[in-house]
Amino acid sequence: MIMYFSATGNTKYCAEFIAGRLNDESIISLNDMMKKNITEINCEGQKRIGIFSPVYDGDLAYAVSEFIERLEFRNVPEDCYIYGLFTCGSMSGNASERLGTVLSAKGLKLSAAFVVVMPDNYVLMFPQKSNEKIQSSLKNADVTLQTVIKDIEDCKKVFMRRGMKIPSFVMYLIHKFFIPSQRKVKGFTVNNDCIGCGLCAEVCPMNIIELRDNRPVWTEDKCACCLSCLHRCPKRAVNRQKSAKNGRYINPNVKL
Ligand SMILES: Cc1cc2nc3c(=O)[nH]c(=O)nc-3n(C[C@H](O)[C@H](O)[C@H](O)COP(=O)(O)O)c2cc1C
Repeated sequence: MIMYFSATGNTKYCAEFIAGRLNDESIISLNDMMKKNITEINCEGQKRIGIFSPVYDGDLAYAVSEFIERLEFRNVPEDCYIYGLFTCGSMSGNASERLGTVLSAKGLKLSAAFVVVMPDNYVLMFPQKSNEKIQSSLKNADVTLQTVIKDIEDCKKVFMRRGMKIPSFVMYLIHKFFIPSQRKVKGFTVNNDCIGCGLCAEVCPMNIIELRDNRPVWTEDKCACCLSCLHRCPKRAVNRQKSAKNGRYINPNVKL
């Protein structure tokens, strides 16, 4: 079983790639589970459970850690191999430590962690790369995935990391100051290109976007900062911080 969270398709791509090659894996979208407020999952008979997430701010995506904290894993076999797979633009930070901690509070053990570097979708901060760079990053990701599949098949206990581990006082500061500001919604804007299609509301995993007079309104300061609404807007009408000049990204090899 693979559970994944994905906004712009990178992590979904990895989930499909690995499930496709391991044959026996079912794929579950954490975005859908969050939207439907599903709070338990039956893991009976599972040999492996994969939890796939993007890295946000050097950590497991906040929406994912919060959701996994709430989720009740039922009937997990004693010898089940539970692994994390994290996609990131360059640095995986402390994502695996976070997942390990969240799972261990539930009496579950993280057996392995994999990292796949993919195109960075953090356009609030960084400009989109050129098409050539995106294509080359996607090719490299496929190479990484080939080795990762072998390790998963063999239930290997490996812990991959890209970049350095973030010191705990830095993590503390990120969580105390930076992440709360990212979760606020006042920075979102929508311009006159908006056609009121409602896709932004549909793809918001936190259900905090409403259409009022055919325009999106962000209603609560609990944004996942996944940027689904921004990247997936068909008219590029949604913006926040520097996104207007930084471009958009959607993984071209996956259907969202
Ligand atoms: C809010 C936010 C924070 C991010 N922080 C990091 C980071 O700390 N390190 C990194 O390498 N990539 C970071 N990224 C990039 C994503 O992890 C990366 O593009 C990921 O593959 C996106 O997955 P998705 O396409 O499945 O949504 C960040 C992206 C967002 C939106």
